[in-house]
Amino acid sequence: MKLDFKIEPPNEKQKLFFLDQHKYVGYGGARGGGKSWALRRKMAMMCLYYPGIKCGIYRRTYPELRNNHVVPLLRELHGIASFNESKKIFKFPNGSVIELCYADNQKDLGQKFQGQEFDILSIDEATQISEEWFAIMKATVRGVNSFPKRIYITCNPGGVGHSWVKRLFIDRSYKDSEDPSEYSFIQALPHDNKALMESDPDYIKSLASLPPKLRAAWLEGSWDIFMGQFFEEFIDDPQHYHDRRYTHVIEPFEIPPRFEIYRSFDWGYSKPFSCDWWAIDTEGRAYLCHQLYGCTGTPDEGIKWAPDKVFSEIARIEREHRWFKDRAIRGVADSAIWASDGGEAIIESADRHGVYFDKSDKTRVAGWMQMHYRLSFGDDGRPMMYFFNTCRHAIRTIPLMQYSQTLPEDLDTSLEDHFCDSCRYFCMTRPISARDAARKERPISDPLDQFERERRTIYNSYGAIRSEV
Ligand SMILES: Nc1ncnc2c1ncn2[C@@H]1O[C@H](COP(=O)(O)OP(=O)(O)O)[C@@H](O)[C@H]1O
Ligand SMILES: [Mg+2]
Repeated sequence: MKLDFKIEPPNEKQKLFFLDQHKYVGYGGARGGGKSWALRRKMAMMCLYYPGIKCGIYRRTYPELRNNHVVPLLRELHGIASFNESKKIFKFPNGSVIELCYADNQKDLGQKFQGQEFDILSIDEATQISEEWFAIMKATVRGVNSFPKRIYITCNPGGVGHSWVKRLFIDRSYKDSEDPSEYSFIQALPHDNKALMESDPDYIKSLASLPPKLRAAWLEGSWDIFMGQFFEEFIDDPQHYHDRRYTHVIEPFEIPPRFEIYRSFDWGYSKPFSCDWWAIDTEGRAYLCHQLYGCTGTPDEGIKWAPDKVFSEIARIEREHRWFKDRAIRGVADSAIWASDGGEAIIESADRHGVYFDKSDKTRVAGWMQMHYRLSFGDDGRPMMYFFNTCRHAIRTIPLMQYSQTLPEDLDTSLEDHFCDSCRYFCMTRPISARDAARKERPISDPLDQFERERRTIYNSYGAIRSEV
């Protein structure tokens, strides 16, 4: 067979991956390292080398599978293997196959992998799947033939699979049923991928502008990062309240009429609600200028505001406050308040008081990234989001947020996260790009220290209704 398979040379890490003969090979560490490329190439090489071998490539969703594998393989295997679109199988003339699979939920996973047999299975972005799913997939790598049996996984820190991937490939902490000599790990970094460095130098720049912990994960491949304060970049520095550099908290100023006004809202079922007013300057910079924050819940839990009380207060503030009265205000709220559960939906109460909202975009990780982007300081030391120092509950709760232990790029939802949710809804109405706010380090001590004492005393004590009117 004549091969006009154009072989771009692998980089050093990709070579290590091609040569690795362990049963379980983890290839990863950071984005853009050339992992998906290497998986596809390795599968194709195995197919050419072992006539009749059966390989699989899994990715969680079809769009990701298509972009990362189907489309490039159609190009790379053109004239070498034929593609069956409905079965998503590349067939080589020597009888070898690469089957492309995706499954985004337990039912699809069962259908796809039940009774399947692979000699080699590649799981691309394995940190997107749980350990239970991994066990189901692993069981399909079997068969009575002499072909090698291998499982290749690529991975990035973060995601639901963070813990099990870290355990097997980074910490190398094994159960009795697992044989340590079967596992190996290759660390790829974005800098290892020369092709990417040349074609998209801005990519590294956008990774470098992330807050330090996410940057350590995605740029340096660190797996020990998802602990501690979630918004570690948040700084409340009274010394800079006036010049507004390297601080997120500032002295209030009069909101000029040309600024746009937004209102974001998170309803608290038995926890605090957070209603937040944002003023946006002509550069798109947001200022949290006013907050109404407090408890709802059952009467025996203490002071409670029913929805009508909450929305009549919001309506009053917007009627009377000099910054808001007679202004167009765009509202955005947690879509959960549209749910009725048989009774009156909370949004009906809001409508009754003339307090109107759009449904928020609830994509959590993307929303947190938007908050990170807005919090990062530009070259002039200014972030894209400020908080007036009168908005105490925002300033108090942002530093309390911690990483989730189950979904490391998310935050721990058991904490007092209502302001942060509301802030996220706001951010998603006006997304910005990472490059709008190239991060600069600030030469001061760890903000965590500053809030540690406060965290211990305030954590979980919601207190009564507080309005900063
Ligand atoms: N050895 C290589 N030669 C040419 N291009 C490569 C090579 N390795 C990776 N690339 C290209 O670099 C980009 C990022 O690689 P990819 O495999 O998608 O990274 P990852 O899966 O680690 O995020 C892709 O466009 C890919 O085709
Ligand atoms: Mg990839």
